[in-house]
Amino acid sequence: MANSIDSIEQRGLLGGDSEESRHNEKSLLQSFTRSHANSRTQKAALFVLSVSIAFNVLLATLYLRALSPSQSEAPSKYAELKHVREEPYVIVTPYASDNETLQDQLWYNINVDSAVVALSDDWVAQHELRKAQRFPWDQSKGIYILHGFHNLHCLKIVYISMSEYRRGKPQTRSWHHVSHCLDALRRQIICDADDTPRATDRRVEVVSGLHQHRQCRSWEQLEDFAKRHTACYKRPENPDEASASKLDRFKHCPPDSGYVVTDDYVPTEELLEGLPEESLQDHV
Ligand SMILES: *[C@@H]1O[C@H](CO)[C@@H](O)[C@H](O)[C@H]1NC(C)=O
Repeated sequence: MANSIDSIEQRGLLGGDSEESRHNEKSLLQSFTRSHANSRTQKAALFVLSVSIAFNVLLATLYLRALSPSQSEAPSKYAELKHVREEPYVIVTPYASDNETLQDQLWYNINVDSAVVALSDDWVAQHELRKAQRFPWDQSKGIYILHGFHNLHCLKIVYISMSEYRRGKPQTRSWHHVSHCLDALRRQIICDADDTPRATDRRVEVVSGLHQHRQCRSWEQLEDFAKRHTACYKRPENPDEASASKLDRFKHCPPDSGYVVTDDYVPTEELLEGLPEESLQDHV
């Protein structure tokens, strides 16, 4: 064993453990102790050490950032969401299931009631938003609709209209509403200008993006934000037909909200009529 290459290498590596080198270490220690007594040298050494530590921390930070983009990513402006989830570009989910009962269930169950939130004027000013119509149960808050939920609501409307058409049922949503929704989604796509190249394969099916993934924000976290700012809102099953008071929609406060709901609330704000010019565009 003593003659093996391993032990020779070990002797070489551990060769410093001899009498002579122990002596050297001792004198090194002595000279360090001597210089330690010299406070100017000590300060200089401390300075170099501090710079070195700071540099190491900086390097470690840069390294960690390179490892996980979501950690260095600036969160979204309002609900402070980051891209925390990775998912493949899927071709089919149960929302496109051959089982139409299941498909219907899923689409009709999309609930966007939490889309409507009440945000305090202070919060709104901090986030550079414009003020909005008053929330009935707290006049220091305005009513807002979270955009992602609005888009999802639009998609649901389009699904409902198309499935009614397929089954020869009367349309429960107005064409005006449906085409507004299609246009809103069109604008969203154009605004996003998603530049991800989706890889193609030579396949019988015409698909793309297989084995590719994207980073997503968490819809659950957006829902949490919405619930923290609930406007006690609930849509009637078919808002295009419902004639009940709009105020009734805001009377669904969770028990711990602290809001006091009254039947005789009268808005004091001016009722605006006619849309501003910039919301109506002739061009596409
Ligand atoms: C279709 O989906 C419904 C609802 O999930 C389920 O009850 C039913 O068993 C499914 N039908 C088939 C044929 O899988």
